[in-house]
Amino acid sequence: MAEKIAVIGGTGDLGFGLALRWAKAGKYIIIGSRKEEKAKKAAEKIQTILGKDVKVEGKFNYEAAAEANIVVLSVPFFAQIGILRSIKDALKPGKILVDVIVPLATAIDGPPTRTLGVWTGSAAKLTEQLVPKGVKVVAAFKNVPADAMQNLSEEVDCDVIVCGDDEEAKREVMKLAELIPGVRAIDGGPLENAHVVEELTAFLININIKYGVKNAGIRITGIK
Ligand SMILES: NC(=O)c1ccc[n+]([C@@H]2O[C@H](COP(=O)([O-])OP(=O)(O)OC[C@H]3O[C@@H](n4cnc5c(N)ncnc54)[C@H](OP(=O)(O)O)[C@@H]3O)[C@@H](O)[C@H]2O)c1
Repeated sequence: MAEKIAVIGGTGDLGFGLALRWAKAGKYIIIGSRKEEKAKKAAEKIQTILGKDVKVEGKFNYEAAAEANIVVLSVPFFAQIGILRSIKDALKPGKILVDVIVPLATAIDGPPTRTLGVWTGSAAKLTEQLVPKGVKVVAAFKNVPADAMQNLSEEVDCDVIVCGDDEEAKREVMKLAELIPGVRAIDGGPLENAHVVEELTAFLININIKYGVKNAGIRITGIK
């Protein structure tokens, strides 16, 4: 089966940016949405930006997840459980599930500069708990700004920290990250570590607000 990447919530800010970047890099993208029409419109928008030759289509979340080998979950924290339940049966063992969710306090009308305590330790570990056995959960793209992802005129100036327990799946997602110009993928260790990146993202939002910018990011120094 040719590699297909489904972006569940690919109609939203970060998901659309990821879909755009990967479509530009030649990947086959399926945008997933709760509304088929909305997904198709987002796919058409990518073709308008990149040209008709890019491989992108729009489908209901379930169909998108069923057809892809790599499924990116890019929905708000408050929607995480419901959306995972709705696509669960499409997530067959062996598939990679890339979790980008940050449990920001905005889910309960709190500030975007704080994360909520998730009982599993992180949104990524919650995803792991909710997907069928054999699905390889990898946490990534939690610390990249959507705005930078969508701005094709500039490189994305930050490292992407990738956490996961399946080394092969983690390497595959790191390769996907490095298809995005400017991005260096950093192996962040096991999925257990994802909570650090989730908290870091709320901290970066703090920096954005303090400096009046949108794209604060991080670079890990001291490694080659
Ligand atoms: N934005 C960033 O800069 C950024 C950076 C790092 C990480 N993240 C994380 O990435 C995830 C997506 O962020 P985002 O900014 O792209 O989110 P968003 O634009 O607010 O939402 C993404 C998509 O989620 C879908 N969705 C599913 N259930 C939903 C519900 N109950 N209510 C609202 N939308 C729902 C919507 O798609 P349909 O209506 O088409 O189903 C929507 O387009 C979040 O967990 C966020 O914490 C975001």
